[in-house]
Amino acid sequence: EKGGYDYFMLKEIAEQPQAIADTLLGRLTENGEIALDEVRLSDQDLRDVDKVFIVACGTAYHAGMVAKYAIEHWTRIPCEVELASEFRYRDPVLDRSTLVVAISQSGETMDTLMALRHAKEQKARVLAICNTNGSTIPRESDAVLYTHGGPEVAVASTKAFLTQLVACYLIGLHLAQVRGIKYADEVAAVVAQLQEMPDKLRELLAGIEPVRELARDIKTAPTVLFIGRHVGFPVALEGALKLKELAYMHAEGFAAGELKHGPIALIDQGTPVVCVVPSPAGRGMLHDKIVSNIQEIRARGARTIVIAEEGDTAVTPYADHLIYVPRTPTLLAPLVTTVPLQVLACEIAAARGHDVDQPRNLAKSVTVE
Ligand code: M6R
Repeated sequence: EKGGYDYFMLKEIAEQPQAIADTLLGRLTENGEIALDEVRLSDQDLRDVDKVFIVACGTAYHAGMVAKYAIEHWTRIPCEVELASEFRYRDPVLDRSTLVVAISQSGETMDTLMALRHAKEQKARVLAICNTNGSTIPRESDAVLYTHGGPEVAVASTKAFLTQLVACYLIGLHLAQVRGIKYADEVAAVVAQLQEMPDKLRELLAGIEPVRELARDIKTAPTVLFIGRHVGFPVALEGALKLKELAYMHAEGFAAGELKHGPIALIDQGTPVVCVVPSPAGRGMLHDKIVSNIQEIRARGARTIVIAEEGDTAVTPYADHLIYVPRTPTLLAPLVTTVPLQVLACEIAAARGHDVDQPRNLAKSVTVE
């Protein structure tokens, strides 16, 4: 049932190209509109939205963090992302023109469900992104976009994350279109870029072997740090979460710009730092800033593991290990930059002798608050 792989996690990592193709399948209608699965909201309701809140936990929260960049950029609607477990306790300002997007692989996460119920009590509209048909979160939502990623068995979320990202992009495009900010041809252009992603992922996975070697190299490090900017920041957080939950190692993700405000003091001789570098083509200024961050930490002894776009030679002099990913538009880059981090965590956990699919103290679906 593991299809020849040692772990479900490796199988699910390998399934990612197909999983995101399935998320995209049939989503673009003949009129060039994005089709949701269940919509109990009118287009007018969506036009009235003046604020978006995304609520989710763990990896799904990281997908929400990426979504914020895309949704605000494409729709110009303010968008906040919040840990579902914090949301209702701080009494957020919600009304019928607020759209709350709940992201959950299982559809049964209690923290997310309680956030959703709170939103509904306050008359907000709720849209679910979910992988599990007929689960509680989509049942209680006003609209649903299923990710169609197929069952995810490993506790660590991999293909669910990538399909959540794709679903978030589709929702951003849908909102922008309904509100008249993006037109069919622009939406089709982004969808076409998304449709290239399965092939790019296949290419990336075919060359993933060096990440395995690297895993054996750093498996005994006392701590591993991850840095990123823009959509690379949530990717850094996701890389650190994967390493914590699977390898039981101390790991932390930072926004690279925050380093100088404190975390750089953590860098010691040999500290592995995984650096998620944005495309030089997309937001060139950010690219150059992170390259100088990398220079800085390396000068302080860090062992730099650089995830950069193919052809980016500016990082070469400062990378102890260089992992190239296929060229991808900036907002979509997390679909490729996350994958080496998943493999890294999986391989380190295996090298340390842990149960990759069933890490200690964790459950696949967290149904208590
Ligand atoms: O089923 P959900 O997407 O609601 O689950 C949310 C988190 O519990 C989940 O993403 C968790 O963080 C994973 N173990 C991370 O790999």
